Amino acid sequence: MTTPRPETLAKLTPVLTKRWLSPDAWRIGTYEQLDGYAALRKALKAHPDDLIQLIKDSGLRGRGGAGFPTGLKWGFIPQGDGKPHYLVVNADEGEPGTCKDLPLMTHDPHALVEGVIIASYAIRAARAYIYIRGEAVHAARRLRNAVQEAYDKGYLGRNILRSGYDLELVVHSGAGAYICGEETALLDSLEGFRGQPRLRPPFPATHGLYASPTVVNNVGTIASVPPIVLGGADWWKSMGTEKSSGPMIYSLSGRVANPGQYECSMGVTLRELLELAGGMQPGHNLRFWTPGGSSTPLLAAEHLDVPLDFEGVAAAGSILGTTATQIFSDQDCPVYATYRWLEFYHHESCGKCTPCREGNYWMVRVYRRILAGQGTHEDLDTLLDTCDNILGRSFCGLGDGATSSVTSSLQYFKQDYLDYIEGRTAPKLSDKQLVGAH
Ligand SMILES: Cc1cc2nc3c(=O)[nH]c(=O)nc-3n(C[C@H](O)[C@H](O)[C@H](O)COP(=O)(O)O)c2cc1C
Ligand code: SF4
Repeated sequence: MTTPRPETLAKLTPVLTKRWLSPDAWRIGTYEQLDGYAALRKALKAHPDDLIQLIKDSGLRGRGGAGFPTGLKWGFIPQGDGKPHYLVVNADEGEPGTCKDLPLMTHDPHALVEGVIIASYAIRAARAYIYIRGEAVHAARRLRNAVQEAYDKGYLGRNILRSGYDLELVVHSGAGAYICGEETALLDSLEGFRGQPRLRPPFPATHGLYASPTVVNNVGTIASVPPIVLGGADWWKSMGTEKSSGPMIYSLSGRVANPGQYECSMGVTLRELLELAGGMQPGHNLRFWTPGGSSTPLLAAEHLDVPLDFEGVAAAGSILGTTATQIFSDQDCPVYATYRWLEFYHHESCGKCTPCREGNYWMVRVYRRILAGQGTHEDLDTLLDTCDNILGRSFCGLGDGATSSVTSSLQYFKQDYLDYIEGRTAPKLSDKQLVGAH
């Protein structure tokens, strides 16, 4: 295991993670001792429009995967329209490899609750929801407890801190479907319908929850709001890069010595993150990795020095996504890894549109054939052709994301496919697992 050098340790910028190791970090008493609810007191004295401007000035971009500018999104909410406004926090965190929102809600739930109150005040919402995935029982329990503590202390409910502002906050557990992380499917699910994406336009900013103006933001986005209110836009922008400001929680998993969450200024490289995480596991050499979850195209060892911000990763041909870096070594097979991800997308496809529903079904079968040693050279063309018919033709991002590892693994690791097809690699799947593959 390698020890990080002081200059690499200096890349750590704990802002959202700074309380995680404090004893009983999730309790309101601890939170209040460590700056908690100070940002709310400050925010309630400001005009809501000034708060929206502050978030615009900070350059904060959504932490849910797409990196949309948060202040701009808040500014889309029509004011004086006479309709109820809603804030909905997306706490579904279903992207494979992603592990930043659940630890945040488990260790520091009040950071999210305080962010919700400030953001709701800014967009003039009197009701907010946190939509958390059903399996995350422990995090939901912590969150519900934090919400109750906030009500008891007068941070939620009627006339918050005697400001005249009212807010009700509801924690809603979903049933555990990846598609319910897609913001419009999430809204349908919250309304009690089957979670399937909605046709856009109209967008949630005007026709969201109950056809009313709604902001949907990721947990990390909303938890970034209190530190920005306290520290100011310039302080936030002193971290990160010009167009990707602030710190980001990178979750490292796989063949790494110390997997976990590392909060660094945006633009840190995988080389630096690996150093912080003690290097690769003994006997393993980096071969491929995802920069932002399984929906983002794979990168290879040659990309160790790519700046992990929105622009840097895009220039390298991938997507920053959820900063879920999954690390694979020379002992892992990119064909098999892609197959397992495809099984996930096939299982989670909501079935609403044909390219994703049928395309993933067929690609899983082609992979089974290849991995059972019965693939043909033509199968590789079939895979690329199928991806071509899914990407950009699907109703939502799930279909597009499913193609990422297929096309990128064929780009960087075509030889691995050929080794199965031409008999140089022993089959990984047996004939029994081949049902329906022809
Ligand atoms: C299939 C799919 C799953 C998604 N899952 C999540 C999720 O679990 N959490 C999340 O915040 N965003 C998820 N998103 C992105 C959301 O649709 C949306 O962009 C995000 O919640 C907006 O918040 P932000 O602007 O704060 O990033 C998903 C998108 C797709 C297409
Ligand atoms: S792309 Fe997949 S998940 Fe999205 S609407 Fe179509 S079938 Fe459903």
